[in-house]
Amino acid sequence: KGKRAFIAGVADDNGYGWAIAKSLAAAGAEILVGTWVPALKIFETSLRRGKFDESRVLPDGSLMEITKVYPLDAVFDNPEDVPEDIKTNKRYAGSSNWTVQEAAESVKHDFGSIDILVHSLANGPEVTKPLLETSRKGYLAAISASSYSYVSLLKHFLPIMNPGGSSISLTYIASERIIPGYGGGMSSAKAALESDTRVLAFEAGRKHKVRVNTISAGPLRSRAAKAIGFIDMMIDYSIANAPLQKELSAEEVGNTAAFLASPLASAITGALVYVDNGLNAMGVGV
Ligand code: NAI
Repeated sequence: KGKRAFIAGVADDNGYGWAIAKSLAAAGAEILVGTWVPALKIFETSLRRGKFDESRVLPDGSLMEITKVYPLDAVFDNPEDVPEDIKTNKRYAGSSNWTVQEAAESVKHDFGSIDILVHSLANGPEVTKPLLETSRKGYLAAISASSYSYVSLLKHFLPIMNPGGSSISLTYIASERIIPGYGGGMSSAKAALESDTRVLAFEAGRKHKVRVNTISAGPLRSRAAKAIGFIDMMIDYSIANAPLQKELSAEEVGNTAAFLASPLASAITGALVYVDNGLNAMGVGV
């Protein structure tokens, strides 16, 4: 029987979430996605008008089908958390049931269960500011959108995940090494996400037989990465210095996610897997 995946953080065809969806679809999974509410309309319209058709092509020539797109804002756990200005914001007012709890309820109502949960989202409003210039509000917002969002997603989706299921998030080496430019508390948020991967692996493993892993990905020119402003430099740096001197493709991260979600990885949990052409292993630039 085919597996069903819910991938949170897909709003175009450039990011890791899209690539992971494709690799999972190529492996036979049914694809559901969670799309950030403010990006939902344009994503659905583009999908419907065929704007992504070229990037929907799978290795066997067929097109990836997204069975359903759910609106999601992962900084809100339930309707009581949503402040008035968001409720009445016209980018949100057109959608409903987009808090984490409601999204999980909707998926349960529509499909009953899932096997694979992917968290491919992050947001840090002050990411371009050095940590020393980051406000408390900006720091906490980065943690809320990029770290707690994962705790919340797993917490709410775990009850509908089948035993043997797998959960994956995306992280970045700025959590453990100094990457000037990855600011606003985003480096801190990734460190939290990685630590939580271990604790959540224990809790979800014991309670639901679900595996929890994170992929530390190399640089990709996604929408989110372009907003940080140093992505081209990071890509050039990696090509110049990594053991494998090639540009990293999103598909390579997608394929690793498909492996981690598969029975081939049935004993892997609580792990951080680098998919970065080996750059993490270098001690000096050469
Ligand atoms: P992306 O722009 O494709 O994905 C980020 C997604 O998060 C977007 O679709 C955005 O709409 C969504 N999002 C933001 N706030 C949200 C919220 N409150 N609720 C729901 N969705 C929200 O960019 P990318 O780079 O593919 O990011 C995916 C993951 O990969 C992130 O965790 C990122 O930190 C990680 N990553 C990216 C690297 C890169 O170089 N692009 C390197 C290493 C990790």
